[in-house]
Amino acid sequence: MDTVFVGRNIIFLPEVDSTNSYASNLLKNVKLPEGSVVHTTHQTHGKGQRGSVWMSETASNLSMSVILFPEFLELHNQFYLYQISALASHDTIAEFLNTSQYDIKIKWPNDILINRQKASGILIENTITDGRITACIIGIGINVNQLVFDSNFKATSIKLVTGKQFEVSEVLPVLCKHLEKYYLMLRRNNTEAIQAHYMNCFFAKNDWIDFEIEEKVQKLKVNGISKKGLLLLEDANGKVHELDAKDARWLY
Ligand code: BTN
Repeated sequence: MDTVFVGRNIIFLPEVDSTNSYASNLLKNVKLPEGSVVHTTHQTHGKGQRGSVWMSETASNLSMSVILFPEFLELHNQFYLYQISALASHDTIAEFLNTSQYDIKIKWPNDILINRQKASGILIENTITDGRITACIIGIGINVNQLVFDSNFKATSIKLVTGKQFEVSEVLPVLCKHLEKYYLMLRRNNTEAIQAHYMNCFFAKNDWIDFEIEEKVQKLKVNGISKKGLLLLEDANGKVHELDAKDARWLY
């Protein structure tokens, strides 16, 4: 493992309900070192964003959670945890693909798309005590070798685009390496560099995209993100709207 602390302590479970839930329960009873990873080959109740279910074929994909203690981070800056996780997953996928051939992008806030199809999802669960983030569980799923996906989802995997099979155990240390790199940038307060990298990978920047907002479909221009990490969308009259992930559904 090419890291100082992320992934140095790995808890491997052949099967678990959810690596995020397991990590959260473990933290209630045990003092774990920062950077500990919970990794499994099969989640029976994998959790997705906004209460959804994360489905992943057994042993084909990477499912893991990383435990961090970002007490140094002001609460109003917690969206940087989304950015660094997305960047780590982005850079990991890029390392297994020939980047010039594939378009690898971060769809705000933290889905990773290869050629507009989702290859990775992230679920972050923070514990906040006395106004500080005392624990952060970053759950990351990367589609590595799965070839068949539910046709309702625009999903893909590293194998589906490259035709090559990779060991999931090869992908895990690469993800730990990139996550540690970006987490250390955050610890050093190098938020400008994080922001610049993130915007470099931003999906649909300046494109007009259909969004579902309050049950209506609207075509809006993707301007970027606000200081608070919210999505900035411009309407046809030039008015800029600041939206939370739960309020705007991408239809692309
Ligand atoms: C999403 O895109 O909806 C987020 C998916 C997050 C999936 C990962 S897999 C490892 C970790 N454990 C979970 O239960 N969920 C996350």
